[in-house]
Amino acid sequence: MEEKRISVLLIEDNPEFAGLVQHWLATCGGEVAFALSWADTLAGGLSQIARGGVDVVILDLGLPDSEGLGTFAAVRRRARTSDIPIVVLSGADTESLALQTIQEGAEDYLVKSACNAAMLSRALRYAVTKRTVEVANRTRVIGVLGSKGGVGTTTIACNLATELRVQTGKRVLLADVDVDAGMVSLMMGVDPQYSFQYAVANFNRLDQSCWNAIVARTTDDLHIIASPAHLGLDVVPVEAIRQVLGLVQPFYDWVVLDLARLNALTQGLLNSTDEIFLVTSTGIAALHQAKRVVDALAKAGVEGPRIHLIVNESDPSPAFSGRDMPTIFGAEIYATVPRDAQELYRSLMDRKPPAEASALRREMARVARRLAGLPEKKGRGALAKMFSRSDRPAKSSAPGKPA
Ligand SMILES: Nc1ncnc2c1ncn2[C@@H]1O[C@H](COP(=O)(O)OP(=O)(O)OP(=O)(O)O)[C@@H](O)[C@H]1O
Ligand SMILES: [Mg+2]
Repeated sequence: MEEKRISVLLIEDNPEFAGLVQHWLATCGGEVAFALSWADTLAGGLSQIARGGVDVVILDLGLPDSEGLGTFAAVRRRARTSDIPIVVLSGADTESLALQTIQEGAEDYLVKSACNAAMLSRALRYAVTKRTVEVANRTRVIGVLGSKGGVGTTTIACNLATELRVQTGKRVLLADVDVDAGMVSLMMGVDPQYSFQYAVANFNRLDQSCWNAIVARTTDDLHIIASPAHLGLDVVPVEAIRQVLGLVQPFYDWVVLDLARLNALTQGLLNSTDEIFLVTSTGIAALHQAKRVVDALAKAGVEGPRIHLIVNESDPSPAFSGRDMPTIFGAEIYATVPRDAQELYRSLMDRKPPAEASALRREMARVARRLAGLPEKKGRGALAKMFSRSDRPAKSSAPGKPA
């Protein structure tokens, strides 16, 4: 059997105790191998987490630069971005402190004097397994943001949501939060009767059946909630939108938000998103703005693995091609989407999504599969294509119903 490797970061200022933990993890055996790294201050630990590659943190609360619950809060803030579980290993055997850290999100609270190799090893293995299951079952909220107007943000949001639905067969909501345009319904070829505004006004009776009656649906059974826009008349407060999203999120496996651009409303929704897809075209102005948005997102606490760049080759005269480049402005280029003006025009005229075989859809299918952790589809021969629908996962009965 292949040996499983768990990368453990120990944040502990006592070198002797750190040595003991190293000994425990080296000797506890089983089918798991622990790779231990060590930081003796909070600051050192936080920068190791930021560098990535940590599966679980063992945390001592009393450090030279931080003490008690404050230590835990600081590590949790940093670790949450990457979903890293924290096992507290503290000298303090205080029931109230232990309960408080568990309440605030620690996976476990172990007391140094009562700990041993088997106990620590088991706590680490359980913490990592539990977190993996939680992450796999949780609704993932993807915000799609444009570097500037007209770069193809709505096009990407619509096709990403469509492909998440088609490729995974899971329950997907596409939410139009662009108060200035609200083009999602037009692009998806649906005529919604209701919008976010109705959902906000009816918040108190918003259960699953009420929500199911509010959303519009595509033929693929992708759910769509229309923009709260009334062409500049009413502005729905961001808090109300956040509340609606929070309430309906559990009905879905994926929520894709067309956030349009970074503004006061979308800033307020950043914390409700797990990941941001930042769309830029290949023109100089769009790239310049993309850099400013990456910087602004970092200031708002959204950085590193939470930002994925989509380079949309929608400009007829590109200043740059994202192909074969791993990153720009410190953000990963997740995909480069080909120019496909004819297909997009046809799709708008026909009031249905671009054809599944179009270059745009195929690239977005690749993005959706990668996001969902599905293997990349290989190029297929004519015979395989004839039977192409059979290799998809079965669709869940109806989005909106618990699986
Ligand atoms: N890959 C592409 N190839 C060709 N045309 C594209 C591509 N992506 C988008 N477009 C076209 O660019 C125009 C703007 O696209 P879209 O509405 O998606 O951009 P947006 O960033 O959401 O704009 P807005 O700022 O108005 O919300 C549309 O006509 C769309 O069809
Ligand atoms: Mg748009």
